Amino acid sequence: MAPPPGTNRPAAGPLRLQVYQRLRAAIEAGVFAPGARLPPSRDHARSLGVARNTVLWALERLRAEGYVVARVGDGSYVAPAIAALAPRRGAQRLAGAGTLLSGRGRLIADTALRWQPPLAPPLPFRIGYPAADLFPFAVWDRLGPRGAGRARRDQARYLEPAGHAPLRTAIAQWLLVSRGIRCAPGQVLVTSGSQQGIDLIARLLLDPGDEVLVEDPGYPGIRACLHGHGVAVRPVNVDADGLVIAEGAARWPGARLAVVTPTHQFPLGVRMSLARRLALLAWARERAAWIVEDDYDGEFQYGPHRIPALCSLPDAQRVIYVGTFSKTLHPGLRLGFVVLPEALVDAFAAAKALTDRHSPGEAQETLARFIAEGHLLRHLRRMREAYLERQAVAIDALARASGGAWRLAPSAQGMHLLHEAAPGLRDAALSARAHEAGVFLAPLSAYAIESRRRGWVVGYAGYAPAELRAAARRLGPLIAAA
Ligand SMILES: Cc1ncc(COP(=O)(O)O)c(C=O)c1O
Repeated sequence: MAPPPGTNRPAAGPLRLQVYQRLRAAIEAGVFAPGARLPPSRDHARSLGVARNTVLWALERLRAEGYVVARVGDGSYVAPAIAALAPRRGAQRLAGAGTLLSGRGRLIADTALRWQPPLAPPLPFRIGYPAADLFPFAVWDRLGPRGAGRARRDQARYLEPAGHAPLRTAIAQWLLVSRGIRCAPGQVLVTSGSQQGIDLIARLLLDPGDEVLVEDPGYPGIRACLHGHGVAVRPVNVDADGLVIAEGAARWPGARLAVVTPTHQFPLGVRMSLARRLALLAWARERAAWIVEDDYDGEFQYGPHRIPALCSLPDAQRVIYVGTFSKTLHPGLRLGFVVLPEALVDAFAAAKALTDRHSPGEAQETLARFIAEGHLLRHLRRMREAYLERQAVAIDALARASGGAWRLAPSAQGMHLLHEAAPGLRDAALSARAHEAGVFLAPLSAYAIESRRRGWVVGYAGYAPAELRAAARRLGPLIAAA
């Protein structure tokens, strides 16, 4: 076993004291989380080149001080109470890094830390989560790594940066059927979620200082990525037809790229009209600019006719389609893709290789089978039914619990709803009270740059009806008191 970080062989002084100090520092720094099992003393001693008794002495002292708990016959664990050190650790990390980072590093870290997507397990009504309770894990596991001997060994090496060929083919076929997109498998680049797609686009198509149009309000994850690359993020209004490109073009005439969510605007939920789509394509053509189509939840359209992707329109050569399996399957997979003009594929694959070589091979193989054997389309059909039901439950439960104060309009698409309030209202206040009551309620202001639109975004897809009802009951009195 490798030595735990921060516990390399000590340089001087009584060895047992140094082992104790390093181990304690590693626990305080969060290298070993509260409740984590510490390495077995025999392995730890061997990796440090010290006697086992030296490590046992250090562990005994940490136990006496309350850092460690020993479980008879089962080794040593970090005491759960150490969690109380966590806030201090976070603050130290932020304060300490500033002087160590380059200017670019500070920009990236600062931007990313301000975005900070929450990591805690999703609570209703947090947005963006698909139904993990309905995910077909048994099917997924059955489709997992296959073969033996030579076939298996062939996969245990560096793989194609652009992605597993059968997966690229499966994605191209699925996009044709489901989103009306005609593309060759060779135009599909497999990424680690759509976040990596945006990162590659920013690095390969933009220079620091370039202007990019974004929807306001819009998705902070994309803005943070662009900002971290030194790109000037320019807000553009969104109305009932989607991003108001005429306003954006007039106000920011030098913009080189626009990022849009045309199927289901994030977070307002509007669908971009055909007239606006055509105006956007005309803007890109005239300015030789790029359009990034973030189709994050485009599969979840509940009406009889699904609107195809923007990039399926004629004359859409300057549209780069960014897809993700974070909503169609689950975000822990970290698999997504971009559909690129052929001329850009090699450069993007090379840049992807520079970042992380390629996405994990076994997950790509499993996903390729999952799509090719029809499980994805079946899963999506089921999810559309479940999400429509969950949406109705959320609307009904919130209306009842709030005494009719919240009557959310149903939506024919997506995984969240919007309850809009008066412009400029302090929507974060209710969100904070909701959070204290164990309910997650994103304020619309969290997604705004200049926009004064306010309200709350209600995610429903990831939660069983009973959870939605329970959360609405907790929220009801807070809405009434607001
Ligand atoms: C608008 C939007 N785009 C993209 C994503 C997905 O990001 P990723 O594929 O990196 O998980 C999300 C997830 O919340 C989102 O809300």
